[in-house]
Amino acid sequence: MNILIFGPNGSGKGTQGALVKEKYKLDHIESGAIFRKHIGGGTELGKKAKEYIDRGELVPDDVTIAMVRDRLQQPDTKNGALLDGFPRTPAQAEALGEMLSQLGAEVNGVPLISVPDEELVNRLSGRWTCRARGHVFHEKFNPPQKPGVCDFDQSELYQRDDDRAETVRTRISVYWNQTAPLIDYYRKCGKLVEIDGNQPIECVTRDLLAALQSE
Ligand code: AP5
Ligand code: MG
Repeated sequence: MNILIFGPNGSGKGTQGALVKEKYKLDHIESGAIFRKHIGGGTELGKKAKEYIDRGELVPDDVTIAMVRDRLQQPDTKNGALLDGFPRTPAQAEALGEMLSQLGAEVNGVPLISVPDEELVNRLSGRWTCRARGHVFHEKFNPPQKPGVCDFDQSELYQRDDDRAETVRTRISVYWNQTAPLIDYYRKCGKLVEIDGNQPIECVTRDLLAALQSE
């Protein structure tokens, strides 16, 4: 099963992806997290991606597609993948269709987590991310038991550089201009299921799991 978890920046893709991957034993492939790992490791790919990520823009398609193709070919994706943050452009969506068909697979479902823009800004400005494995918390909506420390692996929590208010606004406008056209693309393929993301985390999970069960 290959699921694309779709939605604007801060809608809860990472939060829900971490819960759904356990249930379905899928590999959670988060393009933003792979970029952040490269940035942390100081690789050439990381240096290139950082320029774009810091401005809130998309990393160019050729770089992003090659990175995800490489990741999808690894053996831990044999049960399928939960793709989070990829695809974000029509070229990426086409490339993904080709990659999956070469592996004898397809996109099985595209849950879209919808959240109003003003709520996205609140969510991203209060987000704290775990340094070790990317678990996410929110200072008001989903606080860690101990401030600054991850509940799951006790690593340090930090605020992402691209969560500054100005960069968040650019990211949201990039989403509407470059990524949102994919909503229609997947709706026309009959794969899209819209989920109300403007409710507590556990209610979003309940609706998401119900939508996936009917796939
Ligand atoms: P990426 O890391 O994917 O960032 P994003 O899409 O902006 O999404 P976020 O991770 O910010 O939000 P999320 O939806 O995962 O929400 P979360 O669960 O954390 O990408 C970063 C950058 O990398 C991009 O800007 C781009 O430059 C580059 N990039 C990545 N992929 C690319 C691609 N395919 N092509 C080109 N460039 C690419 O939740 C957010 C906060 O809200 C948390 O604090 C959480 O605790 C809280 N929260 C979650 N759910 C709820 C709820 N229901 N109620 C209240 N609070 C909630
Ligand atoms: Mg995320």
